[in-house]
Amino acid sequence: MSKNISELSARQGLENNLFENLATNPDKEAIAKEFLIGKASVTGTVSFYDFLKEDNRDKKVYVCNGSACLCAGTQDKLLGLLKQHFTPSQIGHMTCLGHCHENSAFHYQGKNYSGLNSEQISAALESKEGINDNYQVNSLGVSVLTNQALDIQQFKSTFQELVNQGQSKALDEIKKSNLRGRGGAGFPISFKLESAMNEESDQKYIICNADEGDPGAYSDRYLLEQQPLLVLFGMLTSAYIIGADYGVLYIRAEYPESIAVIKKSIQALQPFIESLGFDFKFKIISAQGAYICGEETALINSIEGQRPEVRVRPPFPTQQGLFNKPTVVNNVETLASLYSIVSKGGGFYNALGTSTSKGTKLVSLDSSFNNPGIYEVEMGTSLQDIFEQCGKGFSKAIKAVQIGGPLGGIIPIHKVNDLQLDFESFSHHGFLLGHASVVAIPTDFPMIKYLHHLMEFAAYESCGKCFPCRLGTKRGKELLLAAIRNKQQIDKELFTDLLDTLEQGSLCAHGGGIPLPIKNALAYFSDELSDYFCN
Ligand SMILES: Cc1cc2nc3c(=O)[nH]c(=O)nc-3n(C[C@H](O)[C@H](O)[C@H](O)COP(=O)(O)O)c2cc1C
Ligand code: SF4
Repeated sequence: MSKNISELSARQGLENNLFENLATNPDKEAIAKEFLIGKASVTGTVSFYDFLKEDNRDKKVYVCNGSACLCAGTQDKLLGLLKQHFTPSQIGHMTCLGHCHENSAFHYQGKNYSGLNSEQISAALESKEGINDNYQVNSLGVSVLTNQALDIQQFKSTFQELVNQGQSKALDEIKKSNLRGRGGAGFPISFKLESAMNEESDQKYIICNADEGDPGAYSDRYLLEQQPLLVLFGMLTSAYIIGADYGVLYIRAEYPESIAVIKKSIQALQPFIESLGFDFKFKIISAQGAYICGEETALINSIEGQRPEVRVRPPFPTQQGLFNKPTVVNNVETLASLYSIVSKGGGFYNALGTSTSKGTKLVSLDSSFNNPGIYEVEMGTSLQDIFEQCGKGFSKAIKAVQIGGPLGGIIPIHKVNDLQLDFESFSHHGFLLGHASVVAIPTDFPMIKYLHHLMEFAAYESCGKCFPCRLGTKRGKELLLAAIRNKQQIDKELFTDLLDTLEQGSLCAHGGGIPLPIKNALAYFSDELSDYFCN
């Protein structure tokens, strides 16, 4: 990162934000002048994002190319239908629109569509009204995230009570709950809050990481659109504990409906926040299409208007985060879970789940299930129960599931019985819980094609900061493509070497994480893959 650009961007801060200027103002030279930064920095940033890139300027419609749509096999037909309305150069891609429950997903003029037939597509393009996006939402047992949506009166009275009891009490309850981050790493939220609370600073920030980029995951989208006050309550609570001036929601632009709902909820809350007498504001930043911005330090660089490369840690964001000020970044679901902890006590939350993975977790089930949707389960619930009782089994023959996004493990279907949905069970069996999104890989879907899809994604989304990932993912993608297209066998020893280098040498969990599903597939689907590898 450039500390210099952080400081220059900080001069205008969030109100006249550099990143928003780059996204909306076509006069890049004027921006460089106003913010006292080089034109090369501006170009370097703008060219990083899918929605700002020169190449995508003429695109009018975007087809989802996420893992669930790929496995459902719906996108070639969709592309054919869209070609009746658009020229090929007007059709772009987005990964992923979070409509994994019905697929055939595309984005047109700020709205998302899925599951439509030919006539419905024509009508949708004409009306530009978007669709009513229905999917199952349910829980297996205790629910804290899938209850009836929190209303503003409950929000106010619970928050008022929290303020009456003070910051330390709120932090104590969160400590007691042992809530661990839901964005992937499983880090206890109380550690971050306490660390930022103890920092002396004239400014502090809370960031809600709503960049849910993992193809297959749409649980954050559910919370943003159907439980917005739970998310905002968590942010306000965190801000109160650390003494933050701003709560920033970094929401992916692939979720336009989420941005609209959150905006409305913030407006509704405004009078209450003002009545509290806190110097606190919510701010929505609309992302511009880059998976790596989900990584918290790349996200911070993004908000600052820098090229969103991953930062070297330390310093950690709680010490030097946004504009070099103490910042706590948390996932949407982590923040949404705070309401139950504050209203019912840390002990209530702690009593749910296993000894080390507490509380509940949202699971996203894709369209291969008979009952796709978002399900809330207690940590430690058997995966088989989730698939059978929530998903009602599969609607087609499935050989494996990938859980936790593109960096999550590929679990052969016979291992599903061995797993419980919690951090430890997954890592013990060589997988990763991640965001707990489930993408089912059909029996007739070639595993080599799925591996190429993963490597292609990793290469495309690499931020380029470290060599192992920048080069390694590209070479991996090329090897897999040559194996598929030209029947050019891959030297297995060399390929394993490449995966080990990525795993051990990458700066962040993007390059470091992509070998896991590939290694799982090599271990569990060696017979199917044997024709593509030698040695
Ligand atoms: C490549 C990559 C992508 C990530 N994407 C997301 C994301 O979309 N949403 C998210 O909350 N965390 C994501 N993370 C994790 C964040 O870096 C960070 O750990 C998280 O936002 C912290 O919040 P939590 O403690 O509440 O989980 C990603 C990490 C990596 C390495
Ligand atoms: S591993 Fe990849 S995404 Fe992460 S810092 Fe290195 S180049 Fe960037």
